[in-house]
Amino acid sequence: MEQTFVMLKPGVLQRRIAGEVLGRFERKGLKIIALKLLRLDRKLVEAHYAEHRGRDFYEKLVEYTLSGPVIAMVLEGEDAVAVVRKLTGPTSLLEAPAGTIRGDYAAKTRLNIVHASDSPAGAEREIALFFCPDEFCPWEDGNAPWF
Ligand SMILES: Nc1ncnc2c1ncn2[C@@H]1O[C@H](COP(=O)(O)OP(=O)(O)O)[C@@H](O)[C@H]1O
Ligand SMILES: [Mg+2]
Repeated sequence: MEQTFVMLKPGVLQRRIAGEVLGRFERKGLKIIALKLLRLDRKLVEAHYAEHRGRDFYEKLVEYTLSGPVIAMVLEGEDAVAVVRKLTGPTSLLEAPAGTIRGDYAAKTRLNIVHASDSPAGAEREIALFFCPDEFCPWEDGNAPWF
């Protein structure tokens, strides 16, 4: 099964919508196999967003990501990377349709609520940045065979 990395950005806790946003992923049937609440340091945020260094929105993006705790998680499922990106919606405020997390909750592109890996290679890199192997908690669907 494929794994992907998701981070609920600081605005999610500040707006008290962590349960609602996490619920979107759970309702789809994705499996949470690692999850934590944490405050990031600048080094980790800069490593995470390294590809955007130098872009005009970079400094504000880093500042926003440091502005409060985030919820980081690893989700597992068939084609999890692409499925999670579909649920998340496009980056841009104007393109994210209603029904996607960004379409429903984000009023600014920079404050677009959620990060999700954009490729399996990206997921592997981001999972390794945020989680140690002993933070994973795999489990079986014994009582929910419909998944
Ligand atoms: N044009 C932009 N203006 C403001 N913020 C942006 C812009 N493009 C991207 N960002 C911010 O940087 C984050 C990372 O960008 P990117 O990797 O391109 O998008 P995504 O998060 O959809 O993978 C976005 O989620 C968003 O918060
Ligand atoms: Mg990205």
